[in-house]
Amino acid sequence: MNILTIQADRSLAIIFIEMKDIDQFGKQLIQWYIKNHRRLPWRETDNPYYIWVSEVMLQQTRVKAVLPYYQKFLERFPDLRRLAQARLQSVLKMWEGMGYYARARHLHQAAKLVLKRYDGKIPDNWESFRDLPGVGEYIASAVLSFAFNQPYCVVDGNVKRVLARFFLIDAPVNRSASLKIFKEAAGRLMKPCRPGIFNQAIMELGATICRPRNPGCGSCPVQSLCSACQSRKVATYPIRIPKKIIPEYHMAVGVILKNDRILIARRKREGLLGGLWEFPGDKVKEKEDPRQACVRGIKETVNLSVEIDSFITRIKYSFTHFKVVKDVFRCRHVFGEVELNGPDDRFRWTTPRQIERYPFPKADHKVIRLIKGMNFS
Ligand code: ADE
Repeated sequence: MNILTIQADRSLAIIFIEMKDIDQFGKQLIQWYIKNHRRLPWRETDNPYYIWVSEVMLQQTRVKAVLPYYQKFLERFPDLRRLAQARLQSVLKMWEGMGYYARARHLHQAAKLVLKRYDGKIPDNWESFRDLPGVGEYIASAVLSFAFNQPYCVVDGNVKRVLARFFLIDAPVNRSASLKIFKEAAGRLMKPCRPGIFNQAIMELGATICRPRNPGCGSCPVQSLCSACQSRKVATYPIRIPKKIIPEYHMAVGVILKNDRILIARRKREGLLGGLWEFPGDKVKEKEDPRQACVRGIKETVNLSVEIDSFITRIKYSFTHFKVVKDVFRCRHVFGEVELNGPDDRFRWTTPRQIERYPFPKADHKVIRLIKGMNFS
């Protein structure tokens, strides 16, 4: 059985696995991958720009949701130069709805740097590529191994699950200190293989066979080598530490009308939803009524005095570390000129027809649909 033991300080992993098992693992995994993998567009290319874009999108978004975005993004920005020369607003517009917008901002910034520093040629060495904005260990390993076949292990959630089961690794998969152990384990298995295809194959195994629930051990190409399968412990692995309860914030915002126009404001570039547009408002304070919070928030953040006409809708959405419940009110401008004192750096009085030109967070699309059906007279 392949067992991974961790020294007392958990800093070093020693894997007991026979060389012939390592060779077998790679051979069986890759043979299975060649026959069975999903045909995805980023797997049909070794163009580093296409691969980079796909990995940035896939980092926090599922394959099925990424596919249409990926295709449209590459139609609009078919090479790195076009991306680098585009305006951030048009990049965000192409990303609109996919979430985690810092990814798009960083990719755009990184493309500009590649154009300037390397004449548009994506660097094929770790230090230079890893140094670009938004390029963490995962993206660097994925792009360098898939596009340039360099021996860096890709260790995402799917891969960690495969390894945890294969070696019965007790280190929790959702603790960052465990990553070193999983990388060590992946590195051992990768050694005799071509890095690009090995990484794709182990990710695919995790995504399609070695699933979190109902794993398909019966169809697994490395079943006979897998410690969890052989000892009937597949359901026990991977080990996770329980999730913290995440806080929920209550917001109140206004669709402010003035002469048939609506006030929208753009969030500052850095931070959450940076560069996207929104309807002004604020968090609802403890013991505050949402209507009061809306009027107060608008006064504080954009300096307008408004009155509320009606409640439009409630929207709910989640970020990684918190949830938001947002009440949206239809407001009438009473007096004052816009002055930005909150999270925004630009504003527009837009028409309901033109509002769609601006990139908004996905949750606000419901509000925009409702605005389009509203009577403005
Ligand atoms: N998730 C992250 N990278 C992926 C890839 N290259 N193929 C499929 N799913 C992925």
